[in-house]
Amino acid sequence: MPKLTTHAIRKLKGQRPIVAVTAYDALTARYANEAGVDIILVGDSMGNVMLGFENTVPVTLDMMCHHAAAVVRARPEALVAVDLPFGEAHYCFDRVLASCQRIVQETGADAVKIEGGAEIAPMLEKLNNAGIPVWGHIGLRPQQVLALGRYKKFGATPDEAGSMLSDALALEKAGVFALLIEMTDHECARKIAGEVSVPVIGIGAGPHCDGQILVSPDLLGLTSDYVPAFVQKFADAAAEYRKGFAAYAAAVRERRFPE
Ligand code: KIV
Repeated sequence: MPKLTTHAIRKLKGQRPIVAVTAYDALTARYANEAGVDIILVGDSMGNVMLGFENTVPVTLDMMCHHAAAVVRARPEALVAVDLPFGEAHYCFDRVLASCQRIVQETGADAVKIEGGAEIAPMLEKLNNAGIPVWGHIGLRPQQVLALGRYKKFGATPDEAGSMLSDALALEKAGVFALLIEMTDHECARKIAGEVSVPVIGIGAGPHCDGQILVSPDLLGLTSDYVPAFVQKFADAAAEYRKGFAAYAAAVRERRFPE
């Protein structure tokens, strides 16, 4: 399969559903890529899912680059996008450009994902002009959790749905190659997917999006604590891990390994 570019991802809109997953290491990226996913996101969800933090707030640019480089070393045909972590998008343009430049130059990733609405559209347009492909992220923005006080669904009221549509249109105009919409009312997601020309990838946003993304440890049944209600488990990897570790421990203790 040829390497998927942002151009190829854009062209998938209206052709077939786009499949995206997260990965934070080369091993997982290899399996996801073997399965033929279209996009691998090195998400800052790595903070809570893999690194034991409460949320994505403590995740730094250094951490993102370290894990993104590992994913890229798997040499996936899937497009690799990397989250710009907490706070980074709110500095002056020069610093945001330097952070994005670091992500694409140092890790070899194909694109950057940035949480934010119409307020960051002018900055995204400048990044686009500088040659940084950006994946927009609206609806629930987990980096806002301290300000919001909780994770909540977006777009259920006419006001919220209207402001999400304005955000989506502003980001499209700024040149994002795709939009991610998280924890969003299904009708609102349907309307946005119908109005914008770029693919809308949903998570907890219902079936009317142009594609879906899930956090890999959630869909594999590996996440040991909180899993959002919209997640479907497509495997029970936790059971296999438990079985494997227990069998190894027993084999060592009973002197059956090494033979
Ligand atoms: O960091 C992440 O994993 C995300 C999800 C919404 C896919 O942004």
